[in-house]
Amino acid sequence: MTKVKNINHIAIAVKNLKEALTFYQGILGLTQEHSEIIKNQNVKVVFLNCGNIKLELIEPLSETSYIAKRIRKHGEGLAHICFEVDDLEAFMIKCRSHQCAFLTPETFKGAKKKEVIFLHPKDSFGALVEFMESTEDENRKK
Ligand code: CO
Repeated sequence: MTKVKNINHIAIAVKNLKEALTFYQGILGLTQEHSEIIKNQNVKVVFLNCGNIKLELIEPLSETSYIAKRIRKHGEGLAHICFEVDDLEAFMIKCRSHQCAFLTPETFKGAKKKEVIFLHPKDSFGALVEFMESTEDENRKK
């Protein structure tokens, strides 16, 4: 059965990571799990531990990055939800068989070099949804 297993992370678009971290780390007390510059998307991301799921803060590194465009259009705020699935290829076939469209024709490398893909928000009722395959490692933690 190809279906969503759990939420991996919730992403928030921010103009300035340092300022956002003074709130999310300094005041909320979340701890940093991972930080990375994703060159192909022109963004810097920080993942924070939050129980079983993570919070991903995304800062644009150029005016042309998709996050910069998103912030210009909608301001800072919730950017996407990332769901884990067992088998990403099989899941994409299932979505396409139900006429759901993805933003890119193929998966691409997101944070931590994981293959990800985004669904067109018109098919997920306005929410931008990212999918990634569960890894052995992440399954073991549960
Ligand atoms: Co994400």
